[in-house]
Amino acid sequence: MPASTDPAAEGLAVGRTAAAPGVPHILIPRGTTVIRERAYPVDPWHIRETRLDLDVLAQSESVFALSNGHIGLRGNLDEGEPHGLPGTYLNSFYELRPLPYAEAGYGFPESGQTVVNVTNAKPIRLLVDDEPFDVRYGDLRSHERVLDLRAGTLERTVEWVSPAGQAVRVKSTRLVSFTQRAVVAICYEVEPLEGPARLIVQSELVANESLPPTSKDPRVAAVLDHPLQAEELLDQAAGGLLVHRTKASNLRMAAAMEHLVETPGKHAVTTEGHPDWLRTTVAAQLQPGQKLRVIKLAAYGWSSKRSLPALRDQVGAALASARLTGWDGLVDAQREFLDAFWDHSDVRVEGDPEVQQAVRFGLFHVLQAGARAEKRPIGSKGLTGPGYDGHTFWDAETFVLPVLTYTQPSAAADVLRWRHATLPLARERAQTLGLKGAAFPWRTIRGHECSAYWPAGTAGFHIGADIADAVRRYVKVTGDVQFEREVGLELLVETARLWRSLGHHDRHGRFHIDGVTGPDEYTAVVDDNIYTNLMAQTNLYAAADAAQRHPDLARKLGVDEEETASWRDAAAAVHIPYDRELQVHQQSEGFTRLQEWDFENTPPEAYPLLLNYPYFDLYRKQVVKQADLVMAMYVRGDAFTPEEKARNFAYYDARTVRDSSLSACIQAVMAAEVGHLELAHDYLGEAALMDLHDLHRNARDGVHMASLAGSWIALVAGLGGMRDFDGVLTFAPRLPSKINRLDFALLWRGLRVRVDVSAEEVTYTLRNGGGSARLDIIHHGEPVTITQVKPVTLKIPPAPPKGPAPQQPDGRAPVRRAV
Ligand code: BGC
Repeated sequence: MPASTDPAAEGLAVGRTAAAPGVPHILIPRGTTVIRERAYPVDPWHIRETRLDLDVLAQSESVFALSNGHIGLRGNLDEGEPHGLPGTYLNSFYELRPLPYAEAGYGFPESGQTVVNVTNAKPIRLLVDDEPFDVRYGDLRSHERVLDLRAGTLERTVEWVSPAGQAVRVKSTRLVSFTQRAVVAICYEVEPLEGPARLIVQSELVANESLPPTSKDPRVAAVLDHPLQAEELLDQAAGGLLVHRTKASNLRMAAAMEHLVETPGKHAVTTEGHPDWLRTTVAAQLQPGQKLRVIKLAAYGWSSKRSLPALRDQVGAALASARLTGWDGLVDAQREFLDAFWDHSDVRVEGDPEVQQAVRFGLFHVLQAGARAEKRPIGSKGLTGPGYDGHTFWDAETFVLPVLTYTQPSAAADVLRWRHATLPLARERAQTLGLKGAAFPWRTIRGHECSAYWPAGTAGFHIGADIADAVRRYVKVTGDVQFEREVGLELLVETARLWRSLGHHDRHGRFHIDGVTGPDEYTAVVDDNIYTNLMAQTNLYAAADAAQRHPDLARKLGVDEEETASWRDAAAAVHIPYDRELQVHQQSEGFTRLQEWDFENTPPEAYPLLLNYPYFDLYRKQVVKQADLVMAMYVRGDAFTPEEKARNFAYYDARTVRDSSLSACIQAVMAAEVGHLELAHDYLGEAALMDLHDLHRNARDGVHMASLAGSWIALVAGLGGMRDFDGVLTFAPRLPSKINRLDFALLWRGLRVRVDVSAEEVTYTLRNGGGSARLDIIHHGEPVTITQVKPVTLKIPPAPPKGPAPQQPDGRAPVRRAV
């Protein structure tokens, strides 16, 4: 039955919405639902969507986003409409935005940076006879989108009947190339199914798309409305180019496209342009069974320095290279790149297929965020959405980089090289704050502090130690001395200097770091946050050790023995607050004497608390937003005894509400370590399904990169018990009842270490090191040497008795996975 074309009747004008009971809805109109059922069926290597739910379109655009770390495309429909949130991003391409303060203070950042929705190369519109292809009209007979984690493509297949009754099948495959950093390619195919049809395909580049408002502040909204100023337009027969510039940040970008058309019948190709859009039109007349195939190749480039002609040539060259490779070549290269990645990075989980799918989805997004970022940051949403203004946070160094270090180490090195490039800004910031060394920004795109709320911004000084820890880990895991000399040492030295000047020795010699905010943003501007203090300790020792390894370079950086001795003194004297009466550590000085939060009378809809309670109240009570002391016990597990860990975990789990997506994965790790494997599994599920199940109800703004990386952390460090203190790989695997096998691999100094865990035993295998390769590891406290000659299989010792099950705040227990 052809449906009405009257927009006023939109709710009814949708094919199949009035389906008979038992017949699935292919398209779910707006206003009827949030995810009622599982949106993506469980499948180990694909994220598949077979119904188009307009209410969660924006969320699916994040899930289906493609990126290579340089370019990011949200998973918008080819025809551009309907959309949740259009989005095309280039790493580090930003605009300046005002940071308005009601009451300004000294040292407050004056302007912020925000990611720009750049020229969109995705749109391909279709006219079938006289009707635009739009899923809101006519009859959507079938719909499928598949994110293929091995192919690195987003595929869409639909069958649609136009309001006038013309049936077509449209198939598009989209990729953002891992092997050609500047290139995006789309293969768009359309065929009439029942009768001859006139098909018009309009493929576009569109700048300054109108977006749903992202800020309530009119000053900010004004900056983001039409952020790009046109500089050049070039239209050729089957493509062309647009060059634009941002107004305040003064960055220039170019986008170019060209098309290859294949069709048996008569067809014509034309291109026309306007400063803000460029359109190539392909008109064809087809019989049923004939296909029109349009390959769209697009290239992006941006620069703060390069001239217009230089940028124009750059994208022209990128297009030439894509043309040379061709569509099939790009698809093959994409597959090869991913084959190599999965070969040494795949994680297999048996017993929980949802987690299996989710951990691969997570790894895929982590790879997408970092693979070709090349000396640019990784934002907390990668390049999948405008959430958090596109900023990078400690999420990158603390959650994403550990995963990349063990799977794609060059990508981890590149992010740290970017941090190194921002050292002059971090030094300047330290000076402004009256400190020595470098104060890295809590949130930024280009390296300047962009947080307008200092208690949860500038005061989060631990970012410096997080960067230092990522440096330390990268150097230990890869043995990359050149990196240490070029980048690592200076980062360690400048961050150590910051700690030395921020902290102080009291009259007993104890070293305190006062007035800082740790990971838990519900407890701010506190003294001696244990996470911060222990991370600073690692930082200070790591800097002193690195200076000793490279005395020549250290001298050039002005480091002398007196300075390294002062770092070691401070590190050795770091104060760790402890409550003797309760026998637990204090997350920060005085934490355990604060008033308890009234969880019993906090209704479920009051979470996240930060949106429903004033910060002053959150700050003065024992309520924890995200793993903080629990995080310290993971990253500095060497500083706590097993008994302390068990007691602390129970105490803090009962007060942690997980209002941040960075929490569940770390709670999974520590739950496993203290023997609560079922709880670890529950937290693992929460971390892994954060976006596929939209658990925080904000996946529309982009995926939660830290939590996606966190699913790997929860499996490898949690159930696998992997730690890397002091550069020694240790494992203590143990599986919860429902997971019967876990198999993962790590890159360690060029060797591939495979760890295959079952309920009773674990097999360690070493690959690609040559016959003489050997590696000393620790298995459940016992030293073991593994060689390439023969895998080593060892028993998992019986678990020590565990204490009573930790309790979570009322209503905040994670979903149980074992039932
Ligand atoms: C968390 C931070 C995190 C930021 C970006 C906040 O809600 O509390 O730890 O860095 O989100 O993901």
